Amino acid sequence: MLELNKIYNEDCLKGLKKIPDNSIDLVLIDPPYDICTAGGKKGNDRITKSKKKVESELITNNLVNGFDFKILDELIRVMKGINIYIWCNVRQIPMYIKYFNLQLKCKLEVLIWNKTNPIPLHNHAYMNDKEYCLYFRNNGYCNPKNYEDSKTVYISTINVNDKKLYNHPTIKPLSLTRKIIRNSSKEQETVLDCFLGSGTTAVACILENRNYIGFEIDKKYYDIALKRIEEAIKMKEEENK
Ligand SMILES: C[S@@+](CC[C@H](N)C(=O)[O-])C[C@H]1O[C@@H](n2cnc3c(N)ncnc32)[C@H](O)[C@@H]1O
Repeated sequence: MLELNKIYNEDCLKGLKKIPDNSIDLVLIDPPYDICTAGGKKGNDRITKSKKKVESELITNNLVNGFDFKILDELIRVMKGINIYIWCNVRQIPMYIKYFNLQLKCKLEVLIWNKTNPIPLHNHAYMNDKEYCLYFRNNGYCNPKNYEDSKTVYISTINVNDKKLYNHPTIKPLSLTRKIIRNSSKEQETVLDCFLGSGTTAVACILENRNYIGFEIDKKYYDIALKRIEEAIKMKEEENK
């Protein structure tokens, strides 16, 4: 068994094998998106400079090629009941629906992060102003305690400040992550994020009194997550004084 409230700098497909069956209450993951970086057709899909910049940052950080679905099989094994939130882009939605709804007969809810000031990426296409977080459950727990926590659309500007502060190109909002954890787990339960990035899920768990386990393959992001966790623990200790 891996220790609770620790993060591990390793490939999660290897790391997950060390977690016992039926031991995790909630999974919250933000895996690499599956993004077609082949460019557009001349004349109807001109790529702007800003799109190229965003894409090259994602390619450099290995964040465009999706992930091995064997990881999902491991996540199902370690969860007590299926209770999983997955950030994804539109290309990935059909395969998740197939896996969780058609094969595993889960219920689905869709949360949206609506960005009010997205970078204009394409001509001749809709704006890139939302991200999807799919919530699949069968025995999962969903119990928002108030009106705000029940909302499925989270509206904010793009989080440039967090990106600069923590140096991760696809960092997710901490307040939304905290809300998901509050809604779908109880205090002292265990939350797993096996694509931890800059550590947002672990920080949210500390602030919401949950246990966490995290994996991050890239040492640069792992170190950033460790630093954020240290800061969050100090913040929590101050709060409790
Ligand atoms: C989209 S980012 C997650 C960002 C995170 N939600 C945050 O707020 O910072 C996905 C992360 O998964 C990591 N990753 C990709 N494949 C992995 C694997 N097989 N095992 C562990 N981490 C992996 C990448 O290095 C990247 O930092």
